[in-house]
Amino acid sequence: MKNEAPFVVAIDGPSGSGKGSLALSVANELGLHLLDSGAIYRMLALKALRQGVDLDDEQRVDGLIDDFDIRFEAGEELSIPFLDGVDVSAELRQEATGDAASRVARHARVRESLLELQRGFLKPPGLVADGRDMGTVVFPKARFKFFLYASVEIRAQRRYKQLINMGLSANIADLQADLAERDERDQNRSASPLKPAEDALVVDSSLLDMAQVTELVLSHIREGKTT
Ligand code: C5P
Repeated sequence: MKNEAPFVVAIDGPSGSGKGSLALSVANELGLHLLDSGAIYRMLALKALRQGVDLDDEQRVDGLIDDFDIRFEAGEELSIPFLDGVDVSAELRQEATGDAASRVARHARVRESLLELQRGFLKPPGLVADGRDMGTVVFPKARFKFFLYASVEIRAQRRYKQLINMGLSANIADLQADLAERDERDQNRSASPLKPAEDALVVDSSLLDMAQVTELVLSHIREGKTT
């Protein structure tokens, strides 16, 4: 890459759109750091659940961030999330944790308190940041912004396969209802709602496989187009 300054590739989109796999492939391919911001919200939700904190209590959830011990360690393929020194990958991927995450993520104070932590992931040579508001709020000056879309039916099917492959139980109708509910919550909250940045390239992945989406995004970056 010609430009030496650390730069950001922001990848936003709804749950199950394939952002996570896309972000991982792009980061590996370009040798960049990775931020899975959803995992941060999921760890905060897990901490709240463990401590019996009401997820709707903005002040108490926000207070948990004062003592929020999280880190990611490089794994064979994925990075491994640690909360309070313990690997929480399995708990993090559960639907109940995702649902709880979208409840703590509604609070404006919580989002504000997590900004610095998220921005701290930007280090040379650059970062691929995956989430809901990477291109709109956390990294508004990101060099590249993508918004990955896929229909709720397709996302439910993908999530179903993922969970089954991980040895977890799942039901497609429940997954679809959960995703629709989470979309509704993420899109309609007043603090950093899920929406494409004005300068984001919207990629509809419903009819593309992950290899095609990755190729499209990589070629866009390699050609240096800033949408
Ligand atoms: O991406 P993931 O499904 O892991 O995110 C879990 C939840 O965390 C989302 O449903 C969303 O409510 C919240 N989230 C967010 N902003 C981000 C990343 C995740 O609000 N940047």
